[in-house]
Amino acid sequence: MRTPFIGGNWKMNLSLTEAAQFIDEIQTQLPPSDEVETVLAASPLFLHTMQEHNNSPLLVAAENCFYEDEGAYTGEVSPKALSQMGIKYVIVGHSERRKYFHETDEIVNKKVHAVFRNHMLPIICCDETMGRYETGDHISWMVNQVTAAIRGLDADDVKKAVVAYEPSWAIGTGHTAPADAAEEGCYLIRQTIADIYSDQIANQVRILYGGSVTHENIRELMKQPDIDGVLAGKASLTTQEFVELANFYQ
Ligand code: G3P
Repeated sequence: MRTPFIGGNWKMNLSLTEAAQFIDEIQTQLPPSDEVETVLAASPLFLHTMQEHNNSPLLVAAENCFYEDEGAYTGEVSPKALSQMGIKYVIVGHSERRKYFHETDEIVNKKVHAVFRNHMLPIICCDETMGRYETGDHISWMVNQVTAAIRGLDADDVKKAVVAYEPSWAIGTGHTAPADAAEEGCYLIRQTIADIYSDQIANQVRILYGGSVTHENIRELMKQPDIDGVLAGKASLTTQEFVELANFYQ
């Protein structure tokens, strides 16, 4: 049985004050971590303050990191420093990193290894554009992305990874993928991992859907056999909505 994973991704939103207030407000409103794992990724500028305010089951996460542990990389975020801060999860390969910061599959793979090397776990994002969906080559695109992201990982690591299926045509658009289409994407990711490792390993990986998730559509998504959770952007920005996502099963 895979523990449900409710993730939030604040991206470049909110302020330090709002981040602290958010954590204060949700302290008693989240389910126990052995029922639902709740994870919230935020700007590196907020992480320490959020951790200082947090005494809840919530895990504060990072949105990104560099693929070297330290060195002359001005402005980058060290995975070693994140780990020393007690960060457990790091989002890697989000479509916005690939789009705006030209992160290639090779860079994503190096970041995945850096996250594991520093005793953290990656939330690996795989995107798929509508264009590829319409031409039908979204399958091969997704398979290639997943394969490249996990290349070189041993089975003990990959089974602990979290992978998010985030069709970029659903991100920020209000157009959530229909539950069966979201399931198809997550199933494809699981089968890709099974083909490289084994069914036993693939069945331990938690696979998320991301793209305009709200409290209205999360229940239908979570009924799908290969959807173990969500990664919400806009819906994670308010305590009320994020708490509703985290308590989806009630
Ligand atoms: O990483 C999750 C994010 O890309 C989804 O954003 O606003 O469509 O929920 P949103």
